[in-house]
Amino acid sequence: MSDSNSVTLSAGETSVSLPVIRPTVGNDCIDIARLPKETGCFTYDNGFTATASCRSAITYIDGDEGVLLYRGYPIDQLAEKSSFLEVAYLLMHGELPSAGEFEQFSGQITRHSMLNEKFKNFVEGFRYDAHPMAMLVGMLGSMASFYHNDLDYDDPEQRRLAAIRLLAKVPTVAALCHRYSIGWPACHPRNNLEYTSRFLHMMFEVPSEPLQLSPVAAKALDLLFILHADHEQNASTSTVRLVGSTGANPYACIAAGVAALWGPAHGGANEAVLKMLGEIGRPENVQSAIDRAKDKESGFRLMGFGHRVYKNFDPRATIIREMTHKVLDELGIDDPLLDVAMRLEEAALKDDYFVQRKLYPNVDFYSGIIYKALNIPTEMFTVMFAIARTAGWVSHWLEQQNDPETKIGRPRQIYTGAASRDYVAIDRR
Ligand code: CMC
Repeated sequence: MSDSNSVTLSAGETSVSLPVIRPTVGNDCIDIARLPKETGCFTYDNGFTATASCRSAITYIDGDEGVLLYRGYPIDQLAEKSSFLEVAYLLMHGELPSAGEFEQFSGQITRHSMLNEKFKNFVEGFRYDAHPMAMLVGMLGSMASFYHNDLDYDDPEQRRLAAIRLLAKVPTVAALCHRYSIGWPACHPRNNLEYTSRFLHMMFEVPSEPLQLSPVAAKALDLLFILHADHEQNASTSTVRLVGSTGANPYACIAAGVAALWGPAHGGANEAVLKMLGEIGRPENVQSAIDRAKDKESGFRLMGFGHRVYKNFDPRATIIREMTHKVLDELGIDDPLLDVAMRLEEAALKDDYFVQRKLYPNVDFYSGIIYKALNIPTEMFTVMFAIARTAGWVSHWLEQQNDPETKIGRPRQIYTGAASRDYVAIDRR
């Protein structure tokens, strides 16, 4: 470093001084925008492990220390004292709401939770066994067609309305997808219920008898939603921002985020954890699963272990681990898969392979167990993650649309194909 505000980088004969950008907390960033022009070189960062793609004031993570802050507030304080809807407000607006602001926000969310009746035709186009994540991608993408013409992107109030509609309608769409897959009639949102109770009601109500909602279930779901609400520039949020950088419709941006979330290395992990626990089946099979995960030839990884950013522990996993036991006790659930999960956690935490690589249980290791206890079907687990993460996605989209530095995202590449060559006619190949 030539001085504390810049670094000097030499490439052959040329050297270039690059500014250092300092965040409020966290690692300094070297601004490399001038590099190609001044040296003719690009940078290579496979998987973006060392690259900041934007400035953001929403969420801060310190992976080594196990810190997660939403707008500066530690996740454990929010998990203990706040609610998902208040957290969604915080992420979107930057500050906790006053009582009046919260009442207005939650009223708006409630009033926008109903779907246009034409969605019913849309959902009926899916095969009865379609995966709910595939349905969610399609349904949210189609929402762009319902609201596109009304949306003036230059008007901050209209952008905010799009974010409110998304937060309000994603649970309704999610429940509709589930009900369609099991042949139940659609259930309209009940305005007298809170966000998570309303969702559980739409999932499980049957026309023939009233539903007894457990307050423990609603509380556990609210906690899971808080923990999953945002996680800075992860794959799905970066996808939302990349699509958003082109000026695409916000519903299309969020649909793209849902598609990115679906993969088993990201939000699909909670579903994969339950499948894996089911395959392991019994506590006595845990050791052979561990051995298989250590064998690179097997192609098998312990789902719900490891994290790209948290290399010591995932603070969300610590909170959720406690909740898992509470939910199972309070709902009186004795699940053999939990024994498998606890044995697996214990064995992996003692095993040199996992200790040396700092592979700890992540949030998805426990969330699947809670969802199972709440009778949420396994294929819906990633959909649950998507409902919660919508709060983060819309906040990032709003922040990006408001940021004068925003440019279309366009990474470069290291080209490894053939150099220029002449076309050969088919009869001479
Ligand atoms: N089981 C066995 N070995 C593993 C695992 C695992 N779950 N995760 C990483 N490793 C090994 C990996 O083989 C590598 O070993 P070596 O150094 O000998 O080559 C080393 O640990 C580092 O792995 P990596 O793939 O370079 O780590 P990464 O930071 O790129 O990947 C991860 C992070 C989450 C994709 C990965 O740990 C993983 O695939 N975990 C299982 C899937 C999972 O639970 N995903 C949910 C993530 S949390 C939810 C979210 O935020 O979306």
